[in-house]
Amino acid sequence: MTRQIIPVEPFDYVLFGGTGDLAQRKLLPSLYQRDRDGQLPAPSRLIGASRAELTSEAYREFARDALKTHVPDNEREEEHVERFIARLHYVPVDAKSDNGWAELRDLVKQFDDGRIRAFYLAVGPGLFGDISAQLEKFDLIDDRTRLVIEKPLGRDLESARELNRVVGEHFDEHQVFRIDHYLGKETVQNLLALRFANALFEPLWNGTHIDHVQITVAETVGVGSRAGYYDKSGAMRDMVQNHLLQLLCLVAMEPPASGEADAIRDEKLKVLRALKPITSQTAANTTVRAQYGRGTVEGEQAQGYLDELGTESSTASFVALKAEIDNWRWAGVPFYLRTGKRMAMRMSEIVIQFRPVPHSIFAKGAGAMHSNKLVLRLQPDESVKQWIMIKDPGPGGMRLRHVPLDMSFAVNFEERSPDAYERLLLDVIRGNQTLFMRRDEVEAAWRWIDPIFDAWEETEQAVETYPSGSWGPPQSINLIARDNRIWNDGGPDAPR
Ligand code: BG6
Repeated sequence: MTRQIIPVEPFDYVLFGGTGDLAQRKLLPSLYQRDRDGQLPAPSRLIGASRAELTSEAYREFARDALKTHVPDNEREEEHVERFIARLHYVPVDAKSDNGWAELRDLVKQFDDGRIRAFYLAVGPGLFGDISAQLEKFDLIDDRTRLVIEKPLGRDLESARELNRVVGEHFDEHQVFRIDHYLGKETVQNLLALRFANALFEPLWNGTHIDHVQITVAETVGVGSRAGYYDKSGAMRDMVQNHLLQLLCLVAMEPPASGEADAIRDEKLKVLRALKPITSQTAANTTVRAQYGRGTVEGEQAQGYLDELGTESSTASFVALKAEIDNWRWAGVPFYLRTGKRMAMRMSEIVIQFRPVPHSIFAKGAGAMHSNKLVLRLQPDESVKQWIMIKDPGPGGMRLRHVPLDMSFAVNFEERSPDAYERLLLDVIRGNQTLFMRRDEVEAAWRWIDPIFDAWEETEQAVETYPSGSWGPPQSINLIARDNRIWNDGGPDAPR
């Protein structure tokens, strides 16, 4: 396998919310990994900014701890850590006043060498407008400036529009990078390669040959310390509106004319716009929402959602949906989506289930016929498996067997799989928006999601419960069983 490091221009990354959880868990470790691979040009700097009154020295200590906790020991060579730490600076800044802004401006402008300036807002969306306005007031925005924002990008269409508007007052759309970290995952990139770098799949990629699609993002973690944030969003806003719908778009979109960001984003947008609305008439048969109770996850006793939250709530930590796309390619092909916390295992995958053969020539004794399926595993073990029928090897007559053509990346390529943020953070510097959501995509996704909330409210659809450590409530099994189909559940050894 050849590794390729694509050079980037020198830059300054300013991390607002630089002392927060995202910076600690993802941003600093990811930037470290890119630096370790030799991708950060020598003069590039990383500037933490937040309300905390820290010195740059104290911030370097903070970053050192973050790397210790979130980068494996064998990937933390002293010379690499020290080179990375030396790039770090810190300025205390208050988004709501002028405090600290002149200092930030002076630090940023210390090098007026035309370098790229990226401002990552790892802060609540309530501050996006304030920070954007201050950046403009302190003359920190020019053609080479980029703004990175991350969900929650609104909690409905109206608030998403408002966020886009306030940011749009200070930045052009081509400067705004809306992160959905699922788009940076290796297997998601691979979906594009599989679909558009092979002639094999495209003729079959439609309702004539595909029976249905399943997208599952199952987590074993509960809401834990994020309960405060999570209770205001729930699985639908936290996962479906962004991650799951983005995956659906990449599976369903028409081949774009080129790999250009807007060519791809135009096609994704068309899919979002073609999603059949879910209404109060259809919600009962096409949606399930549920909350986890107590149970056992991976052998450990787990608390229920309400125990963790410490108060009453009807927020759903699990959602299953039957989505349909009203266009020629996908008419009549359901896309079953589900995501939940505290489920039986951590597993995210996309299953493309093909239709059965039209007629079997084999005797009963040959065994059961299974339909082909293509399973793209995003995590934990990234892989693509194409399930096919073969003859069981050896004597004994014709016996059929369902086996995977298995491309497990970790085994076959022995590569460290980069975190999604590594790719995305540097795509911002490269100015490549392919893996970022455009304003109209975010709004189109909300336009489909909002009526589902309305339908739930109008019909008072129950929030079911499911034991921690299960695959969700029975209603989720019924959702797909009603159509004579089953979820692709099970551990790594289960037939898939
Ligand atoms: C985040 C959600 O966007 O994605 C979290 O806010 C969720 O609730 C996380 O746990 C899952 O990401 P990953 O990469 O671990 O699948």
